[in-house]
Amino acid sequence: MSEKRNTVIKSTKKSSPQTINFFKCTFPAKSINESFARTAVSAFVSQLDPTVSDMADLKTAVSEAVTNAIVHGYKDSPKDSLVYLSVSYKTDGTVSVEIKDKGCGIEDINKAMEPMFTTSPGEERSGMGFTVMASFCDKIKVSSALGKGTTVILEKKLSYT
Ligand SMILES: Nc1ncnc2c1ncn2[C@@H]1O[C@H](COP(=O)(O)OP(=O)(O)OP(=O)(O)O)[C@@H](O)[C@H]1O
Ligand SMILES: [Mg+2]
Repeated sequence: MSEKRNTVIKSTKKSSPQTINFFKCTFPAKSINESFARTAVSAFVSQLDPTVSDMADLKTAVSEAVTNAIVHGYKDSPKDSLVYLSVSYKTDGTVSVEIKDKGCGIEDINKAMEPMFTTSPGEERSGMGFTVMASFCDKIKVSSALGKGTTVILEKKLSYT
């Protein structure tokens, strides 16, 4: 007769939020795809019935990150370059958006994130993209390696008012 084994796990800690839905997609680093990415994120997040203001914030932040991947990440090698987008949301209403490129990378992330810092002043860039992302989201994480690329993770907890 086989031995019956039961397992009971008890935790006094509140369970941490779980990811309940996600999508991933990849698209060429063409400026036309900036609006595609914004609309795709918007369509996905609509499932959570967000406020107009939360949705507008997220779309703006996503636009900035995707534009950066296209215009800065792949500035030297626009052909066959891809942008990787992953979006998910958790049980607590937190939306997470990851925008990744395999482009040139950022030498000094802290400097790049300073308001009004830009390496493309002649192209009508104001150096405010990261500042906008940080102010429109609850959390921003940027990781980068020279010659390997950049990953930006934006997190926003939706408010249901
Ligand atoms: N994905 C990326 N790959 C390489 N460099 C990047 C990337 N994203 C940002 N950077 C660097 O960080 C700088 C600051 O980015 P930020 O978005 O704040 O300003 P900007 O793009 O220069 O101007 P704006 O967003 O106002 O048009 C850029 O000028 C660029 O040098
Ligand atoms: Mg920018």
